[in-house]
Amino acid sequence: MMKVTKDTRVLVLTGAGISAESGLKTFRDAGGLWENHRVEDVATPEAFRRAPVMVWNFYKERWQQALQAKPNPGHLALAKLENWLQDNFHLITQNVDGLHTAAGNKRVIEMHGSLHTCFCTRCHTRFPMKDINLEEDIPLCPKCKGMLRPDVVWFGEVPYHLDKIDALLHNCDVFMVVGTSGVVYPAAGFVMTARYFGAHTIAVNLNPMENSEFIDEFYQGKAGEILPRLIDEWINSADK
Ligand code: OAD
Repeated sequence: MMKVTKDTRVLVLTGAGISAESGLKTFRDAGGLWENHRVEDVATPEAFRRAPVMVWNFYKERWQQALQAKPNPGHLALAKLENWLQDNFHLITQNVDGLHTAAGNKRVIEMHGSLHTCFCTRCHTRFPMKDINLEEDIPLCPKCKGMLRPDVVWFGEVPYHLDKIDALLHNCDVFMVVGTSGVVYPAAGFVMTARYFGAHTIAVNLNPMENSEFIDEFYQGKAGEILPRLIDEWINSADK
């Protein structure tokens, strides 16, 4: 096991698996979101152009679910890790549920956007979802009456903050991936980049992952059970 101290630069990447124990569906597991929805019907710019009401309904529902969800012990363990490491900690998430922030993490990069905001397709202003009248089939911009859209990155769009992420991948000592299947790029390639630039790589996942050849240390199981144990072990053995 890798020894982690206060001076270790730790970068974490999370996916839908970390929120599964908060009651939110993953995408590709049995009963996952992509079992009932075709990706191309709800998560592409073409879908929004063709059927904006259907796309809005999908995201309104997911926003409501995210509002009701609470951080689980996996999220809370990562907040504890950041509290210990401070500036040596960064968290990249593919999740749009906002649960890392709710758990208390501050250095969070939401590379696929957020369910809690939307933006205007005409004037590009961002608004908190809670300030928008979601009774409208297609909510309109309070400023310019343009069509609003969810602030999530769709397939075929470029994820947010890639420059910052690239710099972090080149400058971390430990790169840990949690609850992600490793099939959606560019996120699936981060573990390879981090390792190439010298990081020790760790994965915590319920099932073996697609990109497992780049993982040095693998913990199979639930994030909510493994992360609290692993992180406590790091903190306790560093103090000795
Ligand atoms: P997936 O649904 O593809 O993968 C979730 C992973 O979490 C699987 O490998 C599960 O085995 C694992 N898992 C499930 N429960 C777990 C638990 N309690 N603890 C640990 N692991 C668990 O979700 P993502 O990899 O996040 O993108 O998907 C990546 C992207 O594809 C998403 O951000 C989304 C999706 O399409 C967009 O919408 C752009």
